[in-house]
Amino acid sequence: IERTLSIIKPDATNRNLTGKINAKFEDAGLRIVAQKRIHLTPAQAGQFYEVHKERPFYGELCEFMASAPVVVQVLEGEGAIAKNREVMGATNPAQADEGTIRADFALSVGENSVHGSDAPETAAQEIAYFFSGLELVG
Ligand code: GTP
Ligand code: MG
Repeated sequence: IERTLSIIKPDATNRNLTGKINAKFEDAGLRIVAQKRIHLTPAQAGQFYEVHKERPFYGELCEFMASAPVVVQVLEGEGAIAKNREVMGATNPAQADEGTIRADFALSVGENSVHGSDAPETAAQEIAYFFSGLELVG
């Protein structure tokens, strides 16, 4: 059974959308096996998004991710990585399918409400960045 890292981003925690977002995950058959609310420092956000450090929006992205609390969580299910990305919708909410989290809630390509790991290797790395094995309760 697969696990993926999800982050409910500051634009969504600011608007009290964590429950509505979690309902979409659970309705899709994803189980929340770990979850915590944290406030990242800019340095922690920068380390998490290190793969994007050459992209022009890196500074803006790290500043945004540290601007308010986030909810980091581990989702578990059959094909959890792909299923989560399906429920999230396209990065740019203007291109996201109807009923997806980003179509319903995202404000812009940057403030797009959620993050989800994109492959098994990154999922394992990202989960280990935020959680110890003891915190994952399947
Ligand atoms: P994640 O699940 O968050 O990784 O989204 P993604 O895989 O759909 O997008 P990608 O990995 O390409 O980009 C990571 C994050 O950077 C996005 O979710 C956005 O928050 C942000 N981002 C991407 N493109 C832009 C952009 O053009 N401008 C800004 N400000 N942010 C961007
Ligand atoms: Mg990505």
